[in-house]
Amino acid sequence: MAHRDVKHHLLFEISTEVANRVGGIYSVIKSKAPITTAEYRDRYTLIGPLNRKSAAIEVEELTPTDPYLVETLRSMSERGVQYLYGRWLIEGAPRVLLFETGPAFSHLDEWKTDLWNVAGIPSPVGDSETNEAVVFGYLVAWFLGEFVYHDRTRAVVAHFHEWLAGVALPLCRKRRIDVTTIFTTHATLLGRYLCAGSVDFYNNLQYFDVDAEAGKRGIYHRYCIERAAAHSADVFTTVSHITAYESEHLLKRKPDGVLPNGLNVVKFSAVHEFQNLHAVSKAKINDFIRGHFYGHYDFDLDNTLYFFTAGRYEYRNKGVDMFIESLARLNHRLKTENSNKTVVAFIIMPAATHSYTVETLKGQAVMKALHDTVNEIQESVGRRLFDRSARFNEDSGKDFSAELNDLLTGSEKVLLKRRVFALKRHTQPPIVTHNMADDANDPILNQIRRVQLFNDSSDRVKIIFHPEFLNSNNPILSLDYDDFVRGCHLGVFPSYYEPWGYTPAECTVMGVPSITTNLSGFGCYMEELIENTSDYGIYIVDRRSKGIDDSISQLADYMFQFSFKSRRQRINQRNRTERLSDLLDWKRMGLEYIKARQLALRRAYSSSFDNQEGFEDFFDGTEMKLSRPLSAQASPKDRTGMMTPGDFGSLQEGQEGLNTDDYVGFKLPDEEEDEAYPYSLSL
Ligand code: UDP
Ligand code: G6P
Ligand code: GLC
Repeated sequence: MAHRDVKHHLLFEISTEVANRVGGIYSVIKSKAPITTAEYRDRYTLIGPLNRKSAAIEVEELTPTDPYLVETLRSMSERGVQYLYGRWLIEGAPRVLLFETGPAFSHLDEWKTDLWNVAGIPSPVGDSETNEAVVFGYLVAWFLGEFVYHDRTRAVVAHFHEWLAGVALPLCRKRRIDVTTIFTTHATLLGRYLCAGSVDFYNNLQYFDVDAEAGKRGIYHRYCIERAAAHSADVFTTVSHITAYESEHLLKRKPDGVLPNGLNVVKFSAVHEFQNLHAVSKAKINDFIRGHFYGHYDFDLDNTLYFFTAGRYEYRNKGVDMFIESLARLNHRLKTENSNKTVVAFIIMPAATHSYTVETLKGQAVMKALHDTVNEIQESVGRRLFDRSARFNEDSGKDFSAELNDLLTGSEKVLLKRRVFALKRHTQPPIVTHNMADDANDPILNQIRRVQLFNDSSDRVKIIFHPEFLNSNNPILSLDYDDFVRGCHLGVFPSYYEPWGYTPAECTVMGVPSITTNLSGFGCYMEELIENTSDYGIYIVDRRSKGIDDSISQLADYMFQFSFKSRRQRINQRNRTERLSDLLDWKRMGLEYIKARQLALRRAYSSSFDNQEGFEDFFDGTEMKLSRPLSAQASPKDRTGMMTPGDFGSLQEGQEGLNTDDYVGFKLPDEEEDEAYPYSLSL
């Protein structure tokens, strides 16, 4: 590699979720933007495919000014490449370069052939997701190649996230493009697929015949892209130790380190502001509940708890199967105990639907009509009350209480009665808020049917399935996801496959207790850091050493115990949970990204490190200077002060991948066990 300026290197971060929400990767790059832009300023650009719908809302167009960028984009657009360059309208306002893949599809066949010739990666017809990945990958490699041809002075770090953005990695290597690369995988394709089926995944990780398993699931070509990306990158990383272990066995490369996910933690000036926000958001959820349960609204909202689960619809991987089963057990126990508590459990997972059901919309409408009528009457009653009180004269001999008897007029009573009659209904309150495209075969609905949680009056656990992500512009439950989370009491995420799991982490920084598992990256991470996680409102279900039935009982137990907490205890617990947020702040977690970039630069431009005066070299032990100070530790366990977030097997210069012993967050299965591959192909 040429001699380049590593101190003022440029950073390109490449992902298909730039300014385009799909799942947790969007949360990674969006929440990390403030610290990365603080460190790099205009030397940082995010690259993604252009999704016009979301870009129209999230991106403001800019004219590029960097002469090399101008030159590169000019030459690409002369050859028909279309793009949007602009500022992503989020905190940190990073620059984004979004390539329109559509027009470049004219090159698809040529590029697929090339991918086969240079990297041996097949790409069969008809897989539109892979086609997108190929076109995007070729555009990115084209861009990087052209860019470093024009800019010959500065080093370039290209950091790719997930296989969908990974096609450019083998191309960078084969074409010897003068950049250094990092590949962060946020899951493995095979892991996700295998777990979604009924496979004892974690006990058999080292035995899977990866090519055969990928082939059986029709994802061999995608798997090839992922594996090529992992092997071509200068530095290979993932988001947790559990996924590092999985990557070692399924992708056949030990990651160089773990880059755990952080969050952009917002601190309020008044410590209890987040508690007030809980009360405000809960009031909005209460409004929705009154409408949803109209005609059967026979429980006390003051004794009602809101539990929820949310995420992409991966029924088994996200543990929804286990959640519903434990809710049934919880229902049974609360009934047996004659508890006065009601638990409303929300499931927020997007599925194919045909809009809201009439019943759902009607519930909100009749409740709103009642509310409006009561408001109107309240005003006139108030006026009458004031008038009569002001005019009352004790000497008149009249009884004051009698004056208060007919404050409601006859027509007001009739109107009110009509509103109350409109609340009658003979059906149960609905489970699902939308018309499902495939109601009869929906796994969540079928499981609810199986355990018979039908929102009956006698049920202490009610269920609401909202098969669409939340948004304050929705006609019902009009809250943004964050506000909804704040208003709830407990997040429940009993995942079976979860490389990190942003949802419980987001709960934590908002001071909302949550349940996760020791099969999620986040759960393992918190378990490593904190002695008794449940004291801090992070309950961890053991899905590793317990059988399924025991795990379900443990989950039901956690929820049952939680339902016995008094309001005061819940408030105290929320305070303790919120105190953990510093542990998840990017100001702390971001250190591992810095280390990964340094390792990448060292691997590609080792000679450029000589004579780099003023370069804060992490691996020389010099202290890193972050643009903003590291936040103070919340320190539930004193070891956190001595470590950086990835220190359980951290990135090390000179080390080829993590040591197997480093996967401390995830205990290895006994190596002495039967070596036989239990999933042999039946021929
Ligand atoms: N989420 C959202 N709206 C919702 C429900 C979830 O934006 O109504 C987001 C949530 O904030 C989280 C992401 O979806 O950041 C899910 O990320 P996670 O890492 O938990 O799982 P993934 O989908 O990446 O597997
Ligand atoms: C917050 C508010 C309190 C409110 C409480 C309700 O702490 O500041 O005013 O009483 O939430 O808590 P709960 O757990 O019952 O929703
Ligand atoms: C993936 C994983 C999820 C993780 C996210 C961000 O989509 O499924 O567990 O939190 O990426 O790393």
